Amino acid sequence: MTPADLKVRMTNPGLLPGLFKKQFELCQIKPGQTIAIVSDLGTRTEYIEAAFAAADMLGADIYEMRVNTIPGWTSVGVPTIGQCKGTLEALKACDMILIFHVPLFASWLKEVMNVGVRVQMIIDAPDDLFALQAPTGLKDAVMYAHRMYEKTKQVHVTSKAGTDLTYSCGEYPVMSQYGFADEPGHFDHWGVGLIHTFPNEGSASGRVVVSPGDVVILPYCRYIQDEIVLEIADGHIQSIEGGLDAMLMREWLADGKEHKNDKDPYALSHLGWGLNPQCRWDSIALYGDSPERSRAASRCFPGNFLFSTGPNTQGGGKRTTRGHYDLPMRNCSIDLDGNRVVDEGRLVDPKMIVPREAR
Ligand SMILES: [Fe+2]
Repeated sequence: MTPADLKVRMTNPGLLPGLFKKQFELCQIKPGQTIAIVSDLGTRTEYIEAAFAAADMLGADIYEMRVNTIPGWTSVGVPTIGQCKGTLEALKACDMILIFHVPLFASWLKEVMNVGVRVQMIIDAPDDLFALQAPTGLKDAVMYAHRMYEKTKQVHVTSKAGTDLTYSCGEYPVMSQYGFADEPGHFDHWGVGLIHTFPNEGSASGRVVVSPGDVVILPYCRYIQDEIVLEIADGHIQSIEGGLDAMLMREWLADGKEHKNDKDPYALSHLGWGLNPQCRWDSIALYGDSPERSRAASRCFPGNFLFSTGPNTQGGGKRTTRGHYDLPMRNCSIDLDGNRVVDEGRLVDPKMIVPREAR
């Protein structure tokens, strides 16, 4: 039995309905509202039962739509909805979707959000749902950071390890997640707390040095073991040097190429930082490296610079590539138009700092 299995078994399934009720309250679910569940063959039955019970407790209506397509963690943009006649129309008519796989970068998601449907994604293990659920103040901190990022024109990211990256912003929207889908058309992921935007096309340049202890959260779930040096120009990675970790990144991005000269996997994608104090950098060391254990925790620990490559359609861009890499990095400093908001991996603005709740 792995530590991850043990941890899952230590969660009392009887606690889940209460946990889902609290989440629905955060999502502003009111009596008479309709929640549509989008599940798949891999969804935990106890999550569906808990959602049904929580909706009952709050006087909301709920039903399950189970699809036969199972998008993998590494294959985003899969049209799980819309292919089957009537599914898209049904989802546009509900108040909130509860989805148990990753709908990001799929075109149907935009359609439902555009008509004001809120979307709550749940893809983490039960005890992570408990431990990482949004603490008091997280939304305020995230939205404060969001507004500051929105005004920013130029970002400079540095580190003692040698990172020296600049990019400009404004072409694409800032997107934020604070763990619950409470407002019309808002997408969120239970357990997170982060903001990001996509750099202006062609603007990113410099060097990114990924160091041991940084995390690859997609497509792999592992701590970086040896340094990766990325040279960046014209918004794209030009070279990937290092040992095993560089080899993994090189191979994965090359595998995402659709033709010989395809540069899309090498484009810089969403760039931002984490703010959820419930998330722990050492979660993989504590709970094991199965993807379910690493979706929110490793992505959102406070002050990490989340570097990524690949698609940008979620922000309104045209890249749909499979070559998607997510790398939360520690010990980086982030300056927004010369104003330091993260110093060597630590949030410095008190309005972005949220106390961790003991659970
Ligand atoms: Fe990503």
